[in-house]
Amino acid sequence: MAADFTSISDRIPEPFRLLIRDHAESTNDVARDLALAGAADGLIVLAKHQSAGRGRRGAPWFSTPGESLAFSIILRPDEPKALWPRLALAAGLSVAKAVESFGTISAIKWPNDVWIVRKKVAGILVEAGTDFAIVGIGINVLTTHFPTGISEIATSLKIETGSEIPLPEVLAAIIQEFAMHRHQISGTFAELLSAVRLRCALTGHLVSLITASGNRNGIVDGIGPSGELLFTSNSGQERLIQADEIRIIDG
Ligand code: BTN
Repeated sequence: MAADFTSISDRIPEPFRLLIRDHAESTNDVARDLALAGAADGLIVLAKHQSAGRGRRGAPWFSTPGESLAFSIILRPDEPKALWPRLALAAGLSVAKAVESFGTISAIKWPNDVWIVRKKVAGILVEAGTDFAIVGIGINVLTTHFPTGISEIATSLKIETGSEIPLPEVLAAIIQEFAMHRHQISGTFAELLSAVRLRCALTGHLVSLITASGNRNGIVDGIGPSGELLFTSNSGQERLIQADEIRIIDG
């Protein structure tokens, strides 16, 4: 049965509201066009079928119609633009807490993947325009089969909980969390960070940092006061603001 998103409209807090499209190549692109045309803060563009979803570094994002959520939120934050990258942590925490509310553990793979036991259940892509930010979220909810190459690293709420949680329920849970955490990128950022640190999948692990200029191995010490990843290699400790790819290599 097709998901009925109208049933949750009263559980979506202001200023958020839903714009449902049957199809979009990428909801981030639709949201960006709407933002450029003047759409106000809080519009959520959700595609029932997203055919060319994008991930970080231009990677494709795979969604299955009727089984996964693909949506993008238009924000016009009051906070200084320099703090907007923190929205990725706010969104990651919101998704992680929503996932936990359905009875499973979760972890945040800095900066913006959500894992359940080292498999990715959700990905987040934050993109900024001059006076708006787009927070794109993809989450596998009812998916049970992934294409070869993804199946080894991906999971879904159904696989992990055994329950068929309706897509609108998952969307409402994420937005309720995000309505609060989006405002923690300035004043109460330390609280946001504490909650992210509790769930950090990388802290204490030996990882390989895969960059365009080569791979480097080191230990993740944790997340620093600005949300940066603290990474210690033979060259000493570095504060990573962004990373191409990080792989845990200690098992
Ligand atoms: C990643 O894991 O690299 C980020 C994946 C982000 C996917 C979401 S799905 C909704 C929105 N639209 C897109 O094209 N991408 C994001």
